[in-house]
Amino acid sequence: MPLPERGLDRDALFEKVRERKAEDAKWDQGRTFSLIYPTGRDDVDEVLMEANNLYLYENALNPFRFPSLQHMEAEIVEMTGALVNLPESGGGTMASGGSESILMSVLVNRERAQRERGVEPAKGNIVYPTSAHAAFAKAAHYLELEARPIPIKDDYTADVDAMANAVDDNTVLLMGSAYGYPHGVMDPIEDLSNLALERGIGFHSDTCVGSFVLPFLEKLGYDVPLYDFRLPGVTQMSCDVHKYGYATKGASVILHRNADWVWLQLFVYESWPSGLYGTPTVAGARPAGPIAAAWSVMNYLGMDGYLELMRGLMATTAKIRAGIEAISELSIMGNPIGPLLTFTSDVIDTYAVCDLMDDRGWNLDRNTNPNGLHMMISPLHEKYADEFLSDLRWAVANHGESRGIEARYN
Ligand SMILES: Cc1ncc(COP(=O)(O)O)c(C=O)c1O
Repeated sequence: MPLPERGLDRDALFEKVRERKAEDAKWDQGRTFSLIYPTGRDDVDEVLMEANNLYLYENALNPFRFPSLQHMEAEIVEMTGALVNLPESGGGTMASGGSESILMSVLVNRERAQRERGVEPAKGNIVYPTSAHAAFAKAAHYLELEARPIPIKDDYTADVDAMANAVDDNTVLLMGSAYGYPHGVMDPIEDLSNLALERGIGFHSDTCVGSFVLPFLEKLGYDVPLYDFRLPGVTQMSCDVHKYGYATKGASVILHRNADWVWLQLFVYESWPSGLYGTPTVAGARPAGPIAAAWSVMNYLGMDGYLELMRGLMATTAKIRAGIEAISELSIMGNPIGPLLTFTSDVIDTYAVCDLMDDRGWNLDRNTNPNGLHMMISPLHEKYADEFLSDLRWAVANHGESRGIEARYN
């Protein structure tokens, strides 16, 4: 498609944009259960919009030109670190999302293993449960490390013994999820991080979804096993502000127990005609909006705001969970700790149920091995929980054959 000969006028232009947008999932009507984490609150949305607008054009590549961004970024890292008990000696940076935080953690641990234990990068491996986010396999691929995914147990948690057997002298990183994306269950982080500590290997506690959930659940009195820097074996944590921190996309934090390890993230290049070039993550030019939005929403909500949202969110999760459990054909997979539920069935094809839910505009994700349907619940869903459960009961009662994978992508 070539550039149009003549530019469109603004009205015609936005008519076209809106026409295209009409095809998208209706997240603002509670129809999506991943990708977006809406609070459903106009005041929060306005804060996010104003922060993004204020920093629409700035570039976070050069902190000397835009010190406000550098300071906000440093404070986001500090506030996030405080939530997950990062020690004084720790440090970190922002990244564009969970995947980039994880990539940086794997890179740092590859470098550490080489420097501290003489592990040749070409021979290195990472050991993770199959429930780990795909970003770990991707990082291994990019960094040319061997990926060793280890089957999980029947309760969908990591198998510590099997992981221990997979570790060898060339293992540069072990990880566990607190909690994991596929089923919302906590891996045994204490046992896994102790294993890593005993073997002198880095341990990444992946709290991309959990970092802005678990600290608040703990404060609200829920029983939350240790998962953060209070465990001496945890060396890295990934914390996404753009999930349950409610920032707009492009805001994650990668934390290291030892601030010196942040240097291993840095790429510095001195022999460029344009002068010294250095970046802490993959991106060169970086959008400033996500930094401003993350800083603003964290300061706007504060601890009391996050706790209030979490209280309501757990009540909505409990309601949806009870509604699913009341459908005799369905069962919740494992023991999810937060606002993430996956359900399956021994007697019906959940993908066929999902096809009918698709027809009614609901966007559930399809899990595999075994088949199941996946939901990340957000505060906005409070308004839509009854409608969702009623449609789910209808879909379970009326489903036919699953239409197969093609039907989903057409
Ligand atoms: C546990 C976990 N880790 C990592 C990621 C990757 O985050 P992102 O999609 O922001 O790259 C996710 C995303 O849902 C996740 O749930």
